[in-house]
Amino acid sequence: MQLLKTIDEVREFVAGYKKFDREVGFVPTMGYLHDGHMSLVDRAVQENECTVVSIFVNPTQFLPGEDFEEYPRDEAADLQQCEDAGVDAVFLPSVEVMYGSNALTSVHVSQLSDTLCGMSRGVGHFVGVCTVVCKLFNIVQPDRVYFGQKDAQQALVIAKMIGDLNIPVDIKVCPIKREDDGLAMSSRNARLSEEERSKAITLYTALCEARNMIHNGEKASMVIREAMTEIVENVDGVEVDYLEIVDPVSLGEAEWIDDTVLIAGAVKLGGVRLIDNLLVHPENGPWEDDF
Ligand code: PAF
Repeated sequence: MQLLKTIDEVREFVAGYKKFDREVGFVPTMGYLHDGHMSLVDRAVQENECTVVSIFVNPTQFLPGEDFEEYPRDEAADLQQCEDAGVDAVFLPSVEVMYGSNALTSVHVSQLSDTLCGMSRGVGHFVGVCTVVCKLFNIVQPDRVYFGQKDAQQALVIAKMIGDLNIPVDIKVCPIKREDDGLAMSSRNARLSEEERSKAITLYTALCEARNMIHNGEKASMVIREAMTEIVENVDGVEVDYLEIVDPVSLGEAEWIDDTVLIAGAVKLGGVRLIDNLLVHPENGPWEDDF
């Protein structure tokens, strides 16, 4: 497995595959890899002749007061997991390599970026994500890119950016990986104390209750939102950031549920913010919907 630190090194490495028409899969990450990331990596390894993973904690997607400094990092463990999974190269750029000293360009996917996490964290969050992802796509020039459904809004925003900017890449969105109790895997879970970890499942419990209500015929999203809010607010130390029921393509509020909806939530436990979501269709039994 190659470790690449500069843009020229990545271009040279990938060109070696493209020359022989070999397909390149790419998984952009911020490191501290868990089974959720590795499910994207495994799929990329299966579907492509070359897999590149990037590890870069991107400062521009953290807004002032957020956890950029505290974001967990473990480069040695990440590299070992990539090596074991059959990754061909890992791109580990510095902030200087990614942004130089005078970058003036950014990418903003309007509307989709301005709601849910974009509303609660600030629009700058997705501008930071899109700008770095667009740059990474231009550097790696992959055939396929892999994102997780846990960051459903991020996947939608990136898919829109790919379409709008005619970026020649296929996006694959892979299912959420969960711990045994249902907690969505996230690098940020490592920042939870034992007590917070036991309470973190509250978000998934609230989402599951919303799904049950929909399967039992409830159509008014206001009623379901109230039930979710009550579940979260009943647990000491867990704070609702947002709990929304939205159209899974436009992310507009679904006031009345008669088609597939995305139930998306974010909560805060101490200084840690967690997100999760479920895609739910009112006609399905719970076993048919995305767990
Ligand atoms: O999902 C993430 O880890 C990040 O937002 C990404 C896509 C790697 C961009 O920094």
